[in-house]
Amino acid sequence: MQATLPSVFEVIRARRSLAAGYLDKPVEREKLEQILEAAHWAPSHGRTEPWRWVVFEGEARRRLGEAFAESYARSFSGPDFRPERYKAQLERVWEAPVWIGLGLEPSGRFPEWEEVAAVACAVQNAWLAATALGLAGFWTSGRPVVHEHTARVCGLTPPARLLGFLYLGYPAGPLPQGARGDWQRKVVWNP
Ligand SMILES: Cc1cc2nc3c(=O)[nH]c(=O)nc-3n(C[C@H](O)[C@H](O)[C@H](O)COP(=O)(O)O)c2cc1C
Repeated sequence: MQATLPSVFEVIRARRSLAAGYLDKPVEREKLEQILEAAHWAPSHGRTEPWRWVVFEGEARRRLGEAFAESYARSFSGPDFRPERYKAQLERVWEAPVWIGLGLEPSGRFPEWEEVAAVACAVQNAWLAATALGLAGFWTSGRPVVHEHTARVCGLTPPARLLGFLYLGYPAGPLPQGARGDWQRKVVWNP
């Protein structure tokens, strides 16, 4: 079993954002549990473990789409309201079989940015684990997705909030090519 797993470096390079192109196939509960357990091993200052996950699958996604659409309507009123975008928010949930709300429950013990950073570390763990298990994912963070109304539908009330959703599923085809600039330009060495 161990020998067939890719190395962490291979998984890091293979992970991609896949906006669309998922099979209409549920993800096994066992895999989701592995992914969420991997997320839980993320670091957090003072071990506050500020992440909260709200999983939508199957028909529950309809309620989520309705929350996105309502949040869109609350965010864009009057001339900014576009009916086709409202409809897209309703329907986007059918793109992938699993939608995980990325909740932040601040402990109040540390600056909020540290706990946002901890949740981001946990999301990356989840995403890498999903990649290693043959799944693809996408972190979406647009206004309707992080809106307080969507957060409430997820059971997250202030000061808790949503940092978006990671949606997951089996990719229908090969993952897109990744692209990065020159990493060496981001480094200052002080030997
Ligand atoms: C916190 C966060 C939020 C993101 N939100 C969005 C989003 O709302 N829409 C989008 O198109 N991509 C979003 N992305 C994905 C990035 O566009 C993507 O990671 C980047 O293009 C690199 O592609 P790769 O993940 O395939 O390497 C988000 C990524 C992060 C880390």
